Amino acid sequence: MRAHPAGPRHGDPIQSGVPLRPDSAEQALALDPRIWPETASRQADGAIVIGGVDVRDVAERFGTPVFVLDEAHLRAAAVHYREAFSGDGVRCQVYYASKAFLTSKVARWLVDDGLRIDVCTGGELEVALRAGVPGESILFHGNNKSSGELAGALEAGVGRFVVDSFLEIVRLAALAEDKGVMADVLVRVTVGVEAHTHEYIATAHEDQKFGLALADGSAAEACRRVADLPSLRLAGLHSHIGSQIFDPAGFEVAARRLVGLAADLAGEGLAVGELNLGGGMGIAYTSDDDPLDVSQMAEAMIAIVSGECHTNGLPVPRLAVEPGRAIVGPAAITVYTVGTTKRVVLDSGHARTYVSVDGGMSDNIRTALYDAEYTVTLANRISDAELILCRVVGKHCESGDIVVRDAWLPEDVCPGDLLAVAATGAYCRSMASNYNYLPRPGVVGVRGGKTEVVLRRETLDDLLALDPGLDPQDA
Ligand code: LLP
Repeated sequence: MRAHPAGPRHGDPIQSGVPLRPDSAEQALALDPRIWPETASRQADGAIVIGGVDVRDVAERFGTPVFVLDEAHLRAAAVHYREAFSGDGVRCQVYYASKAFLTSKVARWLVDDGLRIDVCTGGELEVALRAGVPGESILFHGNNKSSGELAGALEAGVGRFVVDSFLEIVRLAALAEDKGVMADVLVRVTVGVEAHTHEYIATAHEDQKFGLALADGSAAEACRRVADLPSLRLAGLHSHIGSQIFDPAGFEVAARRLVGLAADLAGEGLAVGELNLGGGMGIAYTSDDDPLDVSQMAEAMIAIVSGECHTNGLPVPRLAVEPGRAIVGPAAITVYTVGTTKRVVLDSGHARTYVSVDGGMSDNIRTALYDAEYTVTLANRISDAELILCRVVGKHCESGDIVVRDAWLPEDVCPGDLLAVAATGAYCRSMASNYNYLPRPGVVGVRGGKTEVVLRRETLDDLLALDPGLDPQDA
């Protein structure tokens, strides 16, 4: 029974969705390479090492909770995407969706590795620009960009504006005209495919805030209006069908529909130079997840777009994609310290051990918000104790404060132990909050045995400084 859709399910330890009990303690400690960062391994004493750095040292030096980011993994993922999307005769661009996680270092690494950056607020834009990302390598999203944000982006020479409403077209055109500049525009098209993890549904899709619908002609009309305005240039079409997608069919349908629209527009004399198929490529959070192979997906997308263009007698446009999670998600883990454990015997006679860590829904809201599943393991040692069914929970005053709903951990897990949760690089730190006045964790990059702070840990003073009723002297 659940009091709230996002709340905990009570009294049902052996329900569907509980991962199978590992065959052995050894198996429970194994680091599945599909889930853990590329350089992660256990050293002889059992401690996890990433980028040549022992997570115990990171915990000691920087405190916990802490995100540990494997720079080599992150950059290899970026290069892999860039190479996969460099098809024969088709020009492709990969934009990193910075909402997944953004700092200046991350932006610089990814741009150095050949990616461009997608931002969706003035804040993300500011970080990218201050990191030195050239304006023309930035694409600006958002269903409600303010005039101030648009003006700043025009001044910075942002390369692509993805327009999301008729109102915005007028707003952007007026601002660009004022400044005497031309803005390159993609029209965000709602193609009628809504894709989620394992399924895609082709109905009820227009009932959401993003985009201009293909079905009722709004998308085509938006393209006409953009093309008619002297300060805007119609650069192309954009579609984003969802997130954490495992089934390539959704992308294929979207690609076909965008090419269909491009063909209709070509009939009216409007050329579409670019098709952006958005992000959403899924990753493995648990061993049950089976993400798309990047090279195969890229090949399929390129083949569909070029095939459809040939059929329609169109020149093949430039292709773009915007992965966020797939670049940064698997590259980082969260390390927590265990504070308390509590065994709870349920009515059914089963027992569950609640393992409380020093963070929670403030550094990973995804479990509470989306029922997300994660993989967790003991990070500071090995243990051959019997495996027991645990729930890893945070320290917030809320029973829905769950980090990992069901996990098999050794029975001797105890205060002071470190737990590592895998694949937390995307949408964890970027969606973090200060609920219960908890400072947000830092992010420490690791590579070649060295650490570097990618994002400093927040302090309580940072938070107290926001309250004008508190005397800074007391801090
Ligand atoms: N492009 C657009 C237009 C988007 O809206 C998004 C994500 C992306 C690209 C990148 O999607 P990705 O490749 O990272 O899946 N907070 C949620 C995910 C929200 C995604 C929003 N848009 C989560 O934690 O699962």
